Amino acid sequence: MILTINRRKYEVNVEEDMPLLWVLRDELGITGPKYGCGIAFCGACTVHIDGEPIRSCSMPVGDVDGEITTIEEQDSSNSINAVKQAWLDHQVAQCGYCQGGQMMTAASLLNENPNPSDRDIDDAMSANLCRCGTYPRIREAIKSAAKTVRGA
Ligand code: FES
Ligand code: FES
Repeated sequence: MILTINRRKYEVNVEEDMPLLWVLRDELGITGPKYGCGIAFCGACTVHIDGEPIRSCSMPVGDVDGEITTIEEQDSSNSINAVKQAWLDHQVAQCGYCQGGQMMTAASLLNENPNPSDRDIDDAMSANLCRCGTYPRIREAIKSAAKTVRGA
């Protein structure tokens, strides 16, 4: 099957029920999305399909219907890059394991809502778990990225 990932086409020859995360990491070497829980609980594996955040550990590759974007995306017009810069500016990451998924969820929030309230941020991010407890820095970084996205 053909997958479009970060604007590039890949041909993969795998079973349709293989989780997308396995295809990305093991077949294609795209290792930004992480394996955390494997049961759609932690968010470490979050990627976008047509801009919507999905948990790639629990999405059979045969069900993918759209363009996949991962944290490796380098398109400067995309909110992912504003988020990445804000994460650096705020030194968000501790061990870093959850952060790719956190950033992908944050980017999709900003695509939907470039001026999120604290409540909006907490609601959008509540299902992405960080065992290092970086939540306060994540909130600050999202506010900063939101300013960039708005051009403020
Ligand atoms: S690894 Fe996919 S949600 Fe935890
Ligand atoms: S930075 Fe370590 S799990 Fe989030």
